Amino acid sequence: MRAGIVGMGRFLPEKILTNHDLEKMMDTSDEWIRTMTGIEERRIASDDVNTSDMAFAAAQKAIEDAGITPEQIDLILVATVTPDSPFPSVSCRIQERLGATKAAAMDISAACAGFMYGIVTAKQFIESQVYKYVLVVGVEKLSKITDWNDRNTAVLFGDGAGAAIIGPVSEDRGILAFELGADGTGAKHLYQDEFIIMNGREVFKFAVRQMGESCINVLNKAGLSKDDVDFLIPHQANIRIMEASRQRLELPIEKMSKTVDKYGNTSAASIPISIVEEVEKGKIKDDDLIVMVGFGGGLTWGAIAIRWGK
Ligand SMILES: CC(C)(COP(=O)(O)OP(=O)(O)OC[C@H]1O[C@@H](n2cnc3c(N)ncnc32)[C@H](O)[C@@H]1OP(=O)(O)O)[C@@H](O)C(=O)NCCC(=O)NCCS
Repeated sequence: MRAGIVGMGRFLPEKILTNHDLEKMMDTSDEWIRTMTGIEERRIASDDVNTSDMAFAAAQKAIEDAGITPEQIDLILVATVTPDSPFPSVSCRIQERLGATKAAAMDISAACAGFMYGIVTAKQFIESQVYKYVLVVGVEKLSKITDWNDRNTAVLFGDGAGAAIIGPVSEDRGILAFELGADGTGAKHLYQDEFIIMNGREVFKFAVRQMGESCINVLNKAGLSKDDVDFLIPHQANIRIMEASRQRLELPIEKMSKTVDKYGNTSAASIPISIVEEVEKGKIKDDDLIVMVGFGGGLTWGAIAIRWGK
């Protein structure tokens, strides 16, 4: 028996902050941001919308898409580095609002790789037949830890949420292989003090190397090759980093998800938001082989090879 994704949903705040808006706030330019990152605009949650509100909205849609009731959820895992407060967890906050009365709940802190960590954790509980349905949410309100006076970081990030119900799927479908990793020696390159502090150059080098390697590793573990890949969902941090992974897999441009232009880097939310968009556009179909890959502060990384469909 194998675990897979049986339902998904996303939430994005309405307010759009464009590169031109940022030009009025700091010494930057639309041209620099587009060329260096591929970002054109990002969404910003209003003051009265917190992380748990976005997580709740995305989770509701995922539950509906899966065709289950909240009471059927056994475990809620929320990947976030921007919880409403250190405790209670975002997962406990949404457990109450969803009415998922039978679910255990905890948050996962693995930065931009958090959704990968969440899915892999869910898979263990399902395939050991301890639980049947796990809700995994990737959600961030990065705007509240962004230093709007620091042009090195302020142009990169956005707010949003993506959610998935992980459950048993039919034979040959589901999560075929995964890789998770961490390197605490790189903690100094990307962390939160009051705001996000980043050594962009170092993170860039790490990401280009690790994303490509992790993609190849999961394919090897699944006994598959680059030629088997139908679609790549990379963490949406920077188009140049994403392009490096695509080239490593020798995939044509139309086989890689790109939402970074509209939403910027939404950390743990970027991969689930992208999957939902590609499914809606018809780019991901049943039985396609999808590779998802993420990296982030910690440093952390994670990749999954999944045969799409219930
Ligand atoms: C952020 C990033 C685009 C910067 O590109 P880079 O080639 O490393 O550029 P540098 O930081 O060396 O800066 C180059 C110049 O651009 C300037 N610059 C930085 N941000 C700028 C901005 N928003 N607008 C205009 N100029 C900017 C720098 O001040 C520097 O100017 P200088 O040469 O006069 O000192 C790149 O490092 C990156 O994407 N890193 C990964 C970040 C990431 O993905 N983080 C999240 C991980 S989950």
